[in-house]
Amino acid sequence: MDCIFGEDLFRNEIVWWYEKWTDTSRFFQRNHDIVLFYANGPAAKTFTKLYGSLTDRQVALMKTGYNLGSSGGKDIVRVYDRSKIPQSTINGWKAANRAIYDVPTPKGKAMLPSVWPIPVLNSQAKERTGYPTQKPHALLHRVVSASSNKNDMILDPFCGCATICIAAEELQCQWIGIDIGEKATELAQMRMREHLGMLYDGNHRTDIP
Ligand SMILES: C[S@@+](CC[C@H](N)C(=O)[O-])C[C@H]1O[C@@H](n2cnc3c(N)ncnc32)[C@H](O)[C@@H]1O
Repeated sequence: MDCIFGEDLFRNEIVWWYEKWTDTSRFFQRNHDIVLFYANGPAAKTFTKLYGSLTDRQVALMKTGYNLGSSGGKDIVRVYDRSKIPQSTINGWKAANRAIYDVPTPKGKAMLPSVWPIPVLNSQAKERTGYPTQKPHALLHRVVSASSNKNDMILDPFCGCATICIAAEELQCQWIGIDIGEKATELAQMRMREHLGMLYDGNHRTDIP
């Protein structure tokens, strides 16, 4: 990869970590894959911070509000969303002459570490197409959303059953998927139809386009 892209363009080694228990007696369980992240050209400037679910503390504060000193002789309580606070609590604050400030709901925990715990597709997964090397939508959606903006062009020259193409379409990007396998074209077409309601004429060709 360094030879192809240049080592200066290397950004991260990302560990995709998943639970996968098979019986091994001679070595440690192999339950991660490595994603190599390189960036070049205008895309190198795109890096979108991703946010996960709210932290436990944020969830707790949604229900209680939080104190923030005083202003104009009144104690201040800040709330993210009044509809989540019991009316009796709000009445109590008003009775105590406390000022209530509304603040935007937090975004949740920044998901910036280079280790990504994302489950592999199990045999019952709804998104499973039967394509043997299909990757989880959550994994490839994260890749596209971290490094692309709306209307960008996403190319996956080894797209399999088009997981990246689906993610790109959802994120309002343009996309091109290529795969050598005839089955891949058939499944990509099926997924476009079923997941995105798109009708397109996928065409499998074996000559070089
Ligand atoms: C790891 S799979 C991709 C899986 C895909 N991300 C998904 O979620 O379905 C790699 C794909 O590369 C394709 N492939 C291998 N050699 C190729 C080539 N020379 N040209 C185009 N596709 C190729 C295989 O058919 C396979 O579908």
